[in-house]
Amino acid sequence: MTDWRAIESRVFMTTGRRLPVVLVRGEGSRVWDDAGKSYLDFFGGPAVTSLGHCHPVVVEALIDQARTLTHVSNVTYSVPQLQLAQLLVEHSCCDRVYFANSGAEANEGAIKLARKWGREKRSGAFEVICAQDAFHGRTLAMLAAGGNDRYREPFAPVMPGFVHVPFDDIDALRAATSERTCAVLLEPVQGEGGVNVPDDDYLPAVRRWCDEQRLLLILDEVQTGIGRCGALFAYELSNIEPDIITLAKGIASGVPLSAFLAKEHCAVFSPGDHGSTYGGNPLATRVGYEVLRYVIENDVPAKVAEDGRYLEQRLRGLEDRLDLVNGARGKGLLWAVALSRDAAQEVVLDCLERGLIVNNVRPNAVRLCPALTVSREELDEGLAILERALAQVGGGAAK
Ligand SMILES: Cc1ncc(COP(=O)(O)O)c(C=O)c1O
Repeated sequence: MTDWRAIESRVFMTTGRRLPVVLVRGEGSRVWDDAGKSYLDFFGGPAVTSLGHCHPVVVEALIDQARTLTHVSNVTYSVPQLQLAQLLVEHSCCDRVYFANSGAEANEGAIKLARKWGREKRSGAFEVICAQDAFHGRTLAMLAAGGNDRYREPFAPVMPGFVHVPFDDIDALRAATSERTCAVLLEPVQGEGGVNVPDDDYLPAVRRWCDEQRLLLILDEVQTGIGRCGALFAYELSNIEPDIITLAKGIASGVPLSAFLAKEHCAVFSPGDHGSTYGGNPLATRVGYEVLRYVIENDVPAKVAEDGRYLEQRLRGLEDRLDLVNGARGKGLLWAVALSRDAAQEVVLDCLERGLIVNNVRPNAVRLCPALTVSREELDEGLAILERALAQVGGGAAK
């Protein structure tokens, strides 16, 4: 058997630590390694393969579109791009869409839009208030927007124009606002920061503050959008409407595609302001269109909300039985099990050994973000493995 791990260490740039497994095939919520061992995938890319692996809707769309028209530039019109844009506008609070290829790129576009809006409509304001522990991607501007010094410091000088406040702290956000501020950028639930769920009244309070101060509210729904939290967009759960939304990950269930959406009043780009060679090409947007149609027509968000209630009850139950578990937080099918010590990596490796892929989103938190299509039986199977791993790593101690 080819030693892919040895090849990686010879030819690949090391930018992160991989799990010791080479995955070669996937179907639904399952993946297989190069030795034929199967795993339940509760990581999914992370949170990318929204319809699971190789869903027929995705496969058919890819094949059909590959045979029809894979790529044309944005100097001509193309049908799938406009069909998807139309569907997003019909089902969101926004009026206009632009497509890109990754979450970071969508956020970059959103920040450009906010800066142009600030220049034109708020006397040159350019600063964006962001949250500590936020994650918005790895481009230079998104490192500056993100709330993690570790990602930023090696690449100094940091791009100016971003200020950080504690997440879920409206007073801090108010205090950080000045005449330089043009926008607030937040994740409705912080994903990479550890699945941090704010109080129910936080986002409504942020919305009110933005209205009072005439600031744009940008929600990074790269991880939370397209049904992940039990609504098509997580902002719906707070009964608010952002001015700008960014999407990626689940939007095309594994095919690289992202988007930023804006309300008409802040869609201030004019010709020449933005562009992308691949962004919104027919192949990716056709898949995105079919995925979104599937999610909407099958009311996947309602199914996810129900799964979320079930997961919540099951995960909170773990805390009563296992010393290692110190609570659970999340929404829909995005959850973290909090640990009483930094044992997440051990738990992840133990799960892997037992046939479940999860991730250590923090040293003391294990994230679960299975496919939105995961069955109740698969959830139970994954939870049983997780519980055995937590018991093993925690010394088997039951409370
Ligand atoms: C909320 C959020 N924004 C942005 C990104 C960056 O997306 P990408 O890696 O596609 O650039 C991520 C990735 O994890 C994310 O979770």
